[in-house]
Amino acid sequence: MTEQTLVLIKPDGVARGLVGEVLTRIERKGLKIKALELKNVSETLAGEHYAEHAERPFFGSLIEFITSGPVVAAVLEGPRAIAAFRQIAGGTDPVEKAVPGSIRGDFALETQYNLVHGSDSPESAKREIALWFPEHPA
Ligand code: CMP
Repeated sequence: MTEQTLVLIKPDGVARGLVGEVLTRIERKGLKIKALELKNVSETLAGEHYAEHAERPFFGSLIEFITSGPVVAAVLEGPRAIAAFRQIAGGTDPVEKAVPGSIRGDFALETQYNLVHGSDSPESAKREIALWFPEHPA
């Protein structure tokens, strides 16, 4: 089933010059880039994007981090795009969960600085795409 997912290359990925590497892996997997933008993230957008984590102890530092520099936001499309991107991203903890060969497994060390975000469900994808790309057709 063709679906869309919202992906972010977080400030650590942009600052480390890994945008090309991540986009290459996305394209090699066969996912289509439907929208792509370098964006500065306001606190409002960050808070809405991560609303489900508002009660977590790391919420403050997560918001500080995601607003600390530009991110690359993308809408990807393909069969099972949500799971496909999460597979190439690797698990949230880049050392304990992400396997070598995944983006996080190959390039990240800390859970906060885990390089990329991908929507975790069709409902999240719909909400996040509307938030980051309000002009994008549903
Ligand atoms: P992401 O997939 O963007 O979704 C929520 C983010 O919160 C996650 O990636 C991590 O960057 C961050 N996060 C999750 N758990 C922790 C944690 N224990 N400490 C710091 N950051 C975390």
